[in-house]
Amino acid sequence: MPAKYDTILVLDFGGQYCHLIGRRIREHGVYSEIVPHDISPQEVAALSEKFNVKGLILSGGPSSVYEPNAPKLHPHILEVNLPILGLCYGHQLLAQLVSGKVEPATCKEYGIAQVDIDKPVGILEGLSMKEQVWMSHGDTVMAPPPEFETLAHTDNCPVAAFRHKTKPIYGLQWHPEVIHTEHGMRMLQNFIFQVCKAQANWQMEDLITKMVKEIQTETAGSRAIIGLSGGIDSSVATALAAKALGEKLTAVYVDHGFMREGETEAIREAFEKFDIRFIVADAQERFMNKLRGVTEPETKRKIMGEEFIRVFEEIASDSGAEYLIQGTIYPDRIESGFRKNSDKIKSHHNVAGLPEKIKFRKILEPLRDLYKDEVRKVARMLELPKEIVNRQPFPGPGLAVRIIGPLTDEKVKIAKKSDRIVREEIEQCEFADGLWQYFSVVTDTKATGVKGDARAYGYVVAVRAMESREAMTASFAKLPYAVLEKISTRITNEIPQVTRVVYDVTHKPPATIEWE
Ligand code: XMP
Repeated sequence: MPAKYDTILVLDFGGQYCHLIGRRIREHGVYSEIVPHDISPQEVAALSEKFNVKGLILSGGPSSVYEPNAPKLHPHILEVNLPILGLCYGHQLLAQLVSGKVEPATCKEYGIAQVDIDKPVGILEGLSMKEQVWMSHGDTVMAPPPEFETLAHTDNCPVAAFRHKTKPIYGLQWHPEVIHTEHGMRMLQNFIFQVCKAQANWQMEDLITKMVKEIQTETAGSRAIIGLSGGIDSSVATALAAKALGEKLTAVYVDHGFMREGETEAIREAFEKFDIRFIVADAQERFMNKLRGVTEPETKRKIMGEEFIRVFEEIASDSGAEYLIQGTIYPDRIESGFRKNSDKIKSHHNVAGLPEKIKFRKILEPLRDLYKDEVRKVARMLELPKEIVNRQPFPGPGLAVRIIGPLTDEKVKIAKKSDRIVREEIEQCEFADGLWQYFSVVTDTKATGVKGDARAYGYVVAVRAMESREAMTASFAKLPYAVLEKISTRITNEIPQVTRVVYDVTHKPPATIEWE
């Protein structure tokens, strides 16, 4: 383990992809930390005591540089004399700071764009004359700042990439961190290794030791409980906490009635082997009593967040636990709007869905800085069984966020049956391994059908299957028609209340993976 890791700091301007930048850097074995957007040169110097800071990346963000309260760079940030890369909003701010010409675009660009590379040098070294990139911007840099040169342009964006003529300062209007930028990894590699000259000396193994130590230090000999939802995150958090606390840990699986068929049995089998206390809390009735008839997605999430905590509190008071451990990961926190410049997308049950007053001393979130694929890596390093490592992500509120409109007992039954059919059919074909998630959604729409020569009027069920690397962006899976046909036939035959099955062909963004 080196005394200090080579580190790239990512200045957080609130963009949905900010943490993806950090993630991509770590994928190259170089440590990254997300820091506030207005970090000063003195604060960067202070961080250098802990890390070997090799460069700064300014993230994108939802603001326009013209908004009165738009987040700004520290006015002296360029005095750090480190390589700097501005992305999207960061690119515009950098241009503005050094007197470039930034204007609101006449034509906004969102999504995939073709960019002409005028000079394939520095961060753009090794690229072709035309590149596919992911754009998402309103403001545009119209002319390069003095002492800077243009490296690339698009039809709508005359300065899509620039660099300082003598210093290692770069700006890109697009997002190299998003997989739709075809050679985005190459661009980031060029910045990390050629421009910043960083060494790949960061290891995931060190992180496990750090997380286990952190749980031990924080709990200081007290007891803790952890919520197990059945998904990969809480399973890995439980394994880590078990390593740190042993029998001082109580793992609670709350059966709130919105679990997939067979889930409770599978979790029981996997976790009863661990050297910890394991409890299945049967809370089906109390959850349904609170949720029956509730329609609004955020209200569902808030009610569930509150009810989870109340169940945990009751069990904690029996077991003497003072701390609650959760499997929250980075994207949960990002989308719940925990940063000052970012928009809230949805309240993930274990973050923004929590009630304000809780009886625990503290909530610990050992995986809070990790992305899903990093969590799977940790799972493999902890030698967890294959069934846990390969589990589909499953939201804490379970099928409740896959039932649109009022929650009713009938819709819950339909959700469970259709989810089982989707899983059975997809897992039989070779595609399952490449998929991030696959499930059904019971919509709040009814449609006319004909069953057994008679008119039928029933629910529309949607099927969703997604490919993704870390859930921040995702593409709908191009499942073969034969598989979709089998799913559709089985759902309409085996569930009498369903008359129609549709396939969701929306990427994330603009949709999210779950429907609520
Ligand atoms: P979205 O729907 O935000 O989902 O695109 C991204 C990933 O997060 C999962 N998800 C949740 N996980 N609690 C969780 O533990 C939640 O409240 C929650 N909501 C969504 C979702 O299944 C997907 O993998």
